[in-house]
Amino acid sequence: MAMYNDKVMDHFMNPRNVGEIENADGKGVYGSPVCGDMMKISINVENDVITDAKFKTFGCGSAIASSSVATDMIIGKSVEEALKITNKNILNELGGLPAIKIHCSVLADRAIRSAIYDYAQKTGKHYAGLEGFDPNEDDDNETADQKQI
Ligand code: FES
Repeated sequence: MAMYNDKVMDHFMNPRNVGEIENADGKGVYGSPVCGDMMKISINVENDVITDAKFKTFGCGSAIASSSVATDMIIGKSVEEALKITNKNILNELGGLPAIKIHCSVLADRAIRSAIYDYAQKTGKHYAGLEGFDPNEDDDNETADQKQI
């Protein structure tokens, strides 16, 4: 039985939005406390709308597929809308991941939040969705999100 569904395989084999935006408006890096893998996200923002997003991932196929789909999801969304996206939404969009791979989707969720945090710091903007977010904190609450979909 195949471990990954077709959509995950497609985003893994043909990832969208790979790379790094030069002089990005916001950049975020997140390292997983579970596996030590890492993801970098850069975003551009205009009038509070995310106009571009790119990622670089040092991680597994699930992390690559998650970041590909997550960057697709945030482009064209307002910053507040993008902040509402959780790793569960990313999993839904991918049609699910094997249970032991759920934490890989958390990388994308956290790296996006970190990039928006960086943008907010640089511009002095405040977003309700960032309240309580600390980019340097390990996400110990992953187990709550690790339900298989
Ligand atoms: S195992 Fe580390 S990101 Fe998937």
